[in-house]
Amino acid sequence: MLPILTLLLGLPLSLASPTCAPLIPVTFDNGTIPGLLGHWVYIAGASRYPPHLEEMKALKHAAFSFSPGSHEDEIDVIEIMRLNETCVVRNTSKVLIFQHNSTMAHVDDQVFTTAELIQSDKDLLILKHLNDNFPSLSLSARTHNVSKEQLEEFRSHLHCLGFTEEDIIFTSEKDACPLPEEKKGEGDVEPQLE
Ligand SMILES: *[C@@H]1O[C@H](CO)[C@@H](O)[C@H](O)[C@H]1NC(C)=O
Ligand SMILES: *[C@@H]1O[C@H](CO)[C@@H](O)[C@H](O)[C@H]1NC(C)=O
Ligand SMILES: *[C@@H]1O[C@H](CO)[C@@H](O)[C@H](O)[C@H]1NC(C)=O
Ligand SMILES: *[C@@H]1O[C@H](CO)[C@@H](O)[C@H](O)[C@H]1NC(C)=O
Ligand SMILES: *[C@@H]1O[C@H](CO)[C@@H](O)[C@H](O)[C@H]1NC(C)=O
Repeated sequence: MLPILTLLLGLPLSLASPTCAPLIPVTFDNGTIPGLLGHWVYIAGASRYPPHLEEMKALKHAAFSFSPGSHEDEIDVIEIMRLNETCVVRNTSKVLIFQHNSTMAHVDDQVFTTAELIQSDKDLLILKHLNDNFPSLSLSARTHNVSKEQLEEFRSHLHCLGFTEEDIIFTSEKDACPLPEEKKGEGDVEPQLE
């Protein structure tokens, strides 16, 4: 069984009725972007927004990397993800940081999705996606290995938004796509995409 699932299933039921801590958005400042740069792994999410839910269901694993963009309020994004069975590398999207209203937008082709960054551990990226009035929350972290406490905090936020355990969609480390660098290191060997 997956370590994350083992952790979740092993939790005592008493933790399943948390007191609802408010989701506090981070107020952006000039330290926000430096704190976001680098490598992230998408761990889990839940959404009531149908298009977003569809995406979450197809997403088996996703790693992404933020690097400084061509403007100071822009972040370039490289995403390596497994959609259903297929590994996809995408380097065409950007994240725009709006300091005046502390929101960020992911821009991919014509699709513009906005989110607030929720206060938590600096090694976690909890995003509240702003899709009309549909709640949507996602968790990413610096590695796939988040602590039991960190996961529990995320789950309690989700429960407070009205999501049940079945609504939470996890990615799995075993579905990770090979990184382009790793492919080069292995010569011309094709990645195993069973
Ligand atoms: C960030 O903002 C603070 C206060 O607004 C300012 O004192 C500091 O010099 C700024 N730092 C950078 C790197 O711009
Ligand atoms: C993933 O599979 C589901 C179910 O078969 C399908 O509806 C969806 O379009 C697929 N998504 C992608 C991105 O391939
Ligand atoms: C994206 O990848 C392609 C092919 O690897 C490359 O030619 C292009 O310069 C990259 N674009 C960005 C914005 O990194
Ligand atoms: C924040 O500002 C940007 C740019 O002005 C705007 O596109 C976005 O909709 C705003 N977000 C919210 C939640 O108002
Ligand atoms: C994951 O984290 C736990 C403790 O938080 C640690 O014991 C374990 O070695 C870590 N595993 C990896 C692969 O980093």
